Amino acid sequence: MRIDKYLCDGLGISRKEATKLLKSGDVTVDDVMIKSGSVKVKEGQSVAWQERPIVLRGPRYLMMNKPEGVVCSHEDGFNHTVFVLIDEVRYEDLHFAGRLDVDTTGLLLITDDGQWSHRITSPKHKCDKTYRVWLADPVQDDYQHKIAEGILLRNEREPTLPAQMEVVGENEVLLTIHEGKYHQVKRMFAALGNKVVGLHRERIGNITLDADLELGEYRDLTEQEIQSIFNKTTG
Ligand code: URA
Repeated sequence: MRIDKYLCDGLGISRKEATKLLKSGDVTVDDVMIKSGSVKVKEGQSVAWQERPIVLRGPRYLMMNKPEGVVCSHEDGFNHTVFVLIDEVRYEDLHFAGRLDVDTTGLLLITDDGQWSHRITSPKHKCDKTYRVWLADPVQDDYQHKIAEGILLRNEREPTLPAQMEVVGENEVLLTIHEGKYHQVKRMFAALGNKVVGLHRERIGNITLDADLELGEYRDLTEQEIQSIFNKTTG
C-alpha cells in the first residue's frame, strides 16, 4: 500500500493532509524518513509519525447503550446524531446494524463491516431482537396469542413474523421479534390498540447489552460477540 494511503487509513486524514505530514519529515518507515507519498509500505514494515507507531485497524464493531434524544444517522437538521457520542477516527465509515428511533434507548451496534451488519438487518437471516416495552395501557390477555400468530400492521400487506412476548408487569413486556420493519414495535402495539411509552433494546442475536455501559457509553465488541453474528443469527 502507498504510504499516503496508509496514513489516510491509519490516522483518518485526507490525502492532502497525509501529503503535508510527509513533507514535514516526521514520517518514517522502518526508521527511515519518507517524504514521498508514492513509497510502498510492505507487510511487516513499521510506520511511525513523530516516533509514534501508526497501526492499521481491521473492521470495527461497537456496542452502545443509546440514550434518548440522539438519532441514528450521520446528519440531522434537528437533533444531535449518535456520532456526537463517538470518538473514533473515520467515523463517517461507520453505520448502524439496525437503527433505533430517537426516543428508543438501549443496544445499538455500530460497524464499518457491511457483510456483518447485513446478517443482522437482512430479513433473510431473521436475526432476533429483544425489546423491553412499556405500554400506556395494561397488557391484555390476547396479546401473546396475537403476537405469536403475526399482526397485520397499517400499510402492510403481510403480517409480522411470529414473535414472542413475555409479560413482565401490568404495563411492561419483553418482546422478541425476528425482523425489523420501520417502527415495528410501536406499530405492533398500535395495531393491538395500545401505545408504546418506553422502548429499550436489550439483545440482538446472541449479543446482550452490557450492563456496565451507562446511557451514551460504548465499547468494542469482543471477538466472541462478533463471531456470534457470523455463526448464528436466527432464533
Ligand atoms: N421498533 C420501534 O418501533 N422503534 C425502535 O426504535 C425499534 C423497534
